Amino acid sequence: MEASMTSSATRSFFFVFIVFSLALLPSSIAEVQHHDFVVQETPVKRLCKSHKIITVNGQFPGPAIEVRDGDTLAVRVVNRARYNVTIHWHGIRQMRTAWADGPEFVTQCPIRPGESYTYRFTIQGQEGTLWWHAHSSWLRATVYGALIIRPKDGNSYPFAQPKREYPVLLGEWWNKNPIDVVRQATRTGGAPNVSDAFTVNGQPGDLYKCSSTSTTKLPVKPNETILLRFVNAALNNELFISIAGHTMTVVGADASYTKSFTTSVLMLGPGQTTDVLLTANQPPSRYYIAAHAYASAQGAPFDNTTTTAVLEYDCGCLPGSAKPSLPTLPAFNDTATATSFVTKFRSPAPVKLSSPVTEQLFLTVGLGLLPCPRGKTCGGPNGTRFSASMNNASFVLPSTYSILQAHQNSVSGVFTVDFPSNPPVTFDYTGANISRALWQPTRATKVHRLKYGAVVELVLQGTNIFTGENHPIHLHGYDFYVLAQGFGNFNPATDRAKFNLVDPPQRNTVGVPVKGWAVIRFVADNPGVWLMHCHLDVHITWGLAMAFLVENGVGELESLEPPPADLPAC
Ligand code: C2O
Repeated sequence: MEASMTSSATRSFFFVFIVFSLALLPSSIAEVQHHDFVVQETPVKRLCKSHKIITVNGQFPGPAIEVRDGDTLAVRVVNRARYNVTIHWHGIRQMRTAWADGPEFVTQCPIRPGESYTYRFTIQGQEGTLWWHAHSSWLRATVYGALIIRPKDGNSYPFAQPKREYPVLLGEWWNKNPIDVVRQATRTGGAPNVSDAFTVNGQPGDLYKCSSTSTTKLPVKPNETILLRFVNAALNNELFISIAGHTMTVVGADASYTKSFTTSVLMLGPGQTTDVLLTANQPPSRYYIAAHAYASAQGAPFDNTTTTAVLEYDCGCLPGSAKPSLPTLPAFNDTATATSFVTKFRSPAPVKLSSPVTEQLFLTVGLGLLPCPRGKTCGGPNGTRFSASMNNASFVLPSTYSILQAHQNSVSGVFTVDFPSNPPVTFDYTGANISRALWQPTRATKVHRLKYGAVVELVLQGTNIFTGENHPIHLHGYDFYVLAQGFGNFNPATDRAKFNLVDPPQRNTVGVPVKGWAVIRFVADNPGVWLMHCHLDVHITWGLAMAFLVENGVGELESLEPPPADLPAC
């Protein structure tokens, strides 16, 4: 009797102990997820024809990775394709793990055909929608996928749990091999061919030939609220997106939450993501989700087609023949609508901005033209070659070594540290008659050094050289606050007063308005080499990029980790 009482007391003690421990577990357990990405050639049929495209694991778009904040990813990338490849985890901070960031010849040499490399990194303090994509030539045209970060176990979204969630990846499709498209453009110096279609989750949709049977469908039950995770994965186009009959409530962008606001249209530059809630509160039917270009460059050719997916009420009540209704999309050049959308973004609560600023940079961002080499004929305007630059430096990727490895191993001759804090010449950046003497940038591999912990403020100033255009500028390894955006030349005397120092939105990619400017701020708390570039691939091809070299701070926790043993050899 006594013995059994003791054992039951012991049992209940253990029971309580176990329940207590389980309650403690969720927040302390983070997962290590292993994935295999086999980069390979895969046949797919689009726009009436079969094509061999480069995919990950034969999937197009590639596999979605779903993690929780705090998890560690180990993704083994095996290259079975005939091109060099790297994978970039767009928007992941990569604290101390720049080796896993991915841009070819910046943080690593490419994974050669037949070789492999395992990207290892931990997600730290990020929630929302990001994505991964190839960062080598134009391979990202078909090599991309969603990277979804949910709150830590036991935590929830800062909004009511949606009934379902869909990634909505907007892509861009060429009937030709995109690598051939960019190679031909690079050979002639002319503009590359525009794409043949846009896609939603890999499908062009009903408005293109031979595409309607495979149009992407997103089923929704009447009255439920769903979360749509939009990603602009297109190469060269900013996109307007609308859904017939429905408004959207924006709750996040670039894996940062935002103060919620409702809108009937989104505008995303390549690289950007936007999370929206949608309530299916309309008469049960089929509604098109449609996207087409926001083309801000006057007179430049662009893909003017429209991609669609179908939001389909799942009520068992729709006649099979019910045709979806189309939303009205803004005009291709509707800068007013693009501006009113992007200026609605705010952080959910007041933010603690670091100050004072210790590194103030002013960067011009725009196109340029280079003379045709002697004895050649070139395909750019008036027989020139297209180019692009920041502060007149047109970024050239190294070809035999990566910048980060060269820095780590003190190899000279790969890059220089003289990327200037200001443009070499002050001029009327957005004026109509910019002297031709200012159109020709210098080609070089220049980085800008930052001390660990520097408080960096960048004025990104668009130029009207050749043509003004909205440039989606992406910074690797960091999120930044967008303090202000405006048109014309940035004027410190008057424009500083417009800074949102209270609740500026946090992003990893900011659209610098056409013939305008944007100001961003970040703290250089992540050592490594971090590319900053226009996410229109045609512009990065022409050199619209630079890199920051952020020095180590004090001690291990402020220093770059040692390079992984399997980092591809150069
Ligand atoms: Cu999403 Cu350097 O790229």
